[in-house]
Amino acid sequence: MITHYEQLQFNTVSIQGVKQFYSEQMQFPILLETKDEICFQPTENFKLSFKEAMEPIAPAHFAFEVPLSEFDNVVNLLKSKGIALLKWSDGRYIDDFETGKNVYFRDGDGNLLEIITHHYVREGILTPAGDLKLLYLREIGFPADSVKEFREFFVDIFELKLDKVRDDFTFAIGGTSHMVISSKKRKWIPIEMVALPPTMNVIFGVSSTDFVRKVSKKLTEKGMPFCMRDGHLNFNFKEYNITLKVTNFHPGIPALLNLPYST
Ligand SMILES: [Fe+2]
Repeated sequence: MITHYEQLQFNTVSIQGVKQFYSEQMQFPILLETKDEICFQPTENFKLSFKEAMEPIAPAHFAFEVPLSEFDNVVNLLKSKGIALLKWSDGRYIDDFETGKNVYFRDGDGNLLEIITHHYVREGILTPAGDLKLLYLREIGFPADSVKEFREFFVDIFELKLDKVRDDFTFAIGGTSHMVISSKKRKWIPIEMVALPPTMNVIFGVSSTDFVRKVSKKLTEKGMPFCMRDGHLNFNFKEYNITLKVTNFHPGIPALLNLPYST
């Protein structure tokens, strides 16, 4: 099974800009830094990396889960670090919805970040990481021409569960990872940001080599090219580069966290 998001790799137009935002303001530990690449370790199980590129950046959307008991402190910390929280049209910046709360802000490349919490997530299972008390990377946005085609492909090859299934939006869920499949015609909330497909490599953590084999068999049946390197499976779907990597993230964690669709 897909257990979690293991790594997310983006392009950037400024390594120094990225460093100032993620290291100084977000307080993410730096795992590796070269002249044209930087990698952060926001949580024990997730890495965020940026590579300098001579090309325009299409901003991405991604969201970290934090414990409910820490949410207000985290929001205050973001503000104290000088991070500008984005407002809804009525002026508020915290959205208090049926199952939780969230806030949005942007990094120097314009990527739309979100800190989200849910009432149902059981605390004490994963150790909150860093000053921002991050539990895991919950969401990555995948703008798509056809949401239906996109979700059907990933349900088939990754055995994902679906939530909020609409013509222009769907959550496709594997473990703690939520693919936010959103129509390119639907703008990102709360700032009505145009949903362009970002250049990114999304690395999913998976529970076994058996699962990797199953996915590679399905890709072969669909006539889709892929490559295997160091036991990692890599392929392209639409504008996105996807990698599967076997990790030791325990597959029972999503159920222990009490996540819907985890059983
Ligand atoms: Fe989101």
